Amino acid sequence: MDRPVTPARPHHKLTEDGRRMREVLSYSRRGSRFTPRQAEAWAAHQERWVIPDEAVDQPDFSLEQWFGRRAPLIVEIGSGVGEATAPLAAARPAYDVLAFEVWRPGVADTLWKLAEAGAENVRLCGVDAVWSMEHLLGEGEVEELWTFFPDPWRKARHHKRRLVSPAFARLAASRLRPGAVWRLATDWADYAEQMLEVLDAEPALEGGVVERWAERPVTRFERKGVEAGRTITDLCYRRT
Ligand SMILES: C[S@@+](CC[C@H](N)C(=O)[O-])C[C@H]1O[C@@H](n2cnc3c(N)ncnc32)[C@H](O)[C@@H]1O
Repeated sequence: MDRPVTPARPHHKLTEDGRRMREVLSYSRRGSRFTPRQAEAWAAHQERWVIPDEAVDQPDFSLEQWFGRRAPLIVEIGSGVGEATAPLAAARPAYDVLAFEVWRPGVADTLWKLAEAGAENVRLCGVDAVWSMEHLLGEGEVEELWTFFPDPWRKARHHKRRLVSPAFARLAASRLRPGAVWRLATDWADYAEQMLEVLDAEPALEGGVVERWAERPVTRFERKGVEAGRTITDLCYRRT
């Protein structure tokens, strides 16, 4: 993809008088301090699997270079501690899996799992996935998109921060190859309804609620939802 000028990524945008721009993001900046085990994972493995944030500012940024090959691309947004990422990627060696996670301790935990699973086909990126989908990926470049248990932003005044919005649905649909699928899961009924409403309204997507994707590993967020008595909803949409 031709990117002559790299637009500023989130947290780097300034107003004309030099103040930090207020941005509506789908995540909050949580603590980034590592436990000793996370620090160990980071030191041992980050070079192999992590794309440093600053790399995306380079005009010649190339995913192909970071993966060391060209292969069909799966994107995961909000990979957490990698409970789904590592086994799903290890089972798909012919694909490259680009996992976005802004929470660094989660990325560090993921590194152990990738090492254990031998998932060489993963790269982790800590830059906002919405910005990255827009600026680092081209139209039709994504074979599959996974958003499992995106942050629910429960309060009404925070709903604008939910990842699955009409604008993001349009962007995601444009990045999917025709025929490619977007798999989603949530344990919050009102977010499931919002997903259904938003994705049904996106003309470039068709699909709806599906049976639980059998291959999807149970993550902490699914476990917590089930323990609290919430129903898990899986959705799957195809790019028309
Ligand atoms: C509720 S957790 C779910 C994690 C994982 N999918 C699971 O099921 O365990 C959502 C994660 O998405 C990450 N996230 C939210 N918005 C993001 C964005 N725009 N770019 C990258 N990561 C994001 C958060 O940091 C958080 O770790």
